[in-house]
Amino acid sequence: MTAARSPHRHLLGIASLGREEIEALLEAADGFVELNRRSDKKLALLRGLTQINLFFESSTRTRTSFELAGKRLGADVVNMSVGVSAIKKGETLIDTAMTLNAMHPDILVVRHHDSGAVALLARHVRCAVINAGDGTHEHPTQALLDALTIRRRRGRIAGLLVAICGDIAHSRVARSNILLLTRLGARVRLVAPPTLLPAGMDRQYGVETFHDMRAGLEGADIVMMLRLQSERMQGSFVPSLREYFHFFGLTWEKLAAARPDALIMHPGPMNRGVEIDGVVADDIDRSAILDQVEMGVAVRMACLDFLTRDLRAAAA
Ligand code: CP
Repeated sequence: MTAARSPHRHLLGIASLGREEIEALLEAADGFVELNRRSDKKLALLRGLTQINLFFESSTRTRTSFELAGKRLGADVVNMSVGVSAIKKGETLIDTAMTLNAMHPDILVVRHHDSGAVALLARHVRCAVINAGDGTHEHPTQALLDALTIRRRRGRIAGLLVAICGDIAHSRVARSNILLLTRLGARVRLVAPPTLLPAGMDRQYGVETFHDMRAGLEGADIVMMLRLQSERMQGSFVPSLREYFHFFGLTWEKLAAARPDALIMHPGPMNRGVEIDGVVADDIDRSAILDQVEMGVAVRMACLDFLTRDLRAAAA
C-alpha cells in the first residue's frame, strides 16, 4: 500500500481529486481487496477513531460497505438512522451536523438528497466528511470502486471506451464516473434519450453523446448501465417502461454492437427488465456487477485510511 497522504480534509467529489491521488487511492484499495478475502479481515489502523454514517436517503451497498470498511479498520462505527432521529422533529441539517460534531466524531459519512448538502454540512464540523452521494451532484466512492473494478478486470483504464447508458440527467454516479474516467484517460460516451441527457454535456465534459443504443455501444470496452432515478424526477421522462426497455434496455442483441468481451457494469440497485435484461446482468463471464459490490468495501477502506492519516500521525 502506498504511503501517500491525501491533502484533502474531506472527500466531497471526484472534481477535486488529481490523477495521482486517484491512482494512489486505487493502489491502496487493491491491497484491501486481498485483506477482505482472508478469514481474518481486521486491522487496527483506525482504532480509537469514531465514524458516524448519516444517511438521509436509502442505501444498501454504500451504507453497508462503509460500515464494514470502518469496522475492518478498527473504528467505532455508529449508523444514525434518520427515520428515528430528531430530524423527524424538524431539526435542520446544520443543527444536526453541529450536534454530531459536539460528540467528537473523526469521520462523518453522509448521503443526502440535495446536491451540495454534504459540502454545506462539511463547513460546520471539525472532522473529515465523505460524500456518500448528494442529489444529482457526485458519488465519488462509487466512481472509485467502478474504476478499481475496471482496472482489475481490464488491467488499465487509459484508452478504454466506456459507454454510460440510461438516466444521465439525474445520475450522480454518471457525473463522478465521467470526471474520473476522463481524468484517467478513458474515452467516455453517454447514451440516453434526449429527455435524460442534458444538452451541452459533450462540450462540458469532453465526451460523446448518443441517442441510439446500438450506435453508442459500437466498439465499447465497458457498458455501464444506470437505472431510471424516479425519486428525483418531477414529471414524465419516458413514454412507458416497456418502451424504454425496448429502446434503451441492455439486451444481448444490443450488446452485440460492443466489443465481444465488453464488460457489463451497473452501480445498483438494478431494475431488471427496465434498464437491463436479467439474463445479461447475471452472465458470470461478462457481468462485473457483483465485483463492483466487492470493490466497494476495499475502496471505502482506502478512503477512510487516507482521510485519517494526518490525524493518526498527530496522535502517534
Ligand atoms: N450504488 C449505490 O449507491 O447503491 P446504494 O443506493 O444501495 O448505496
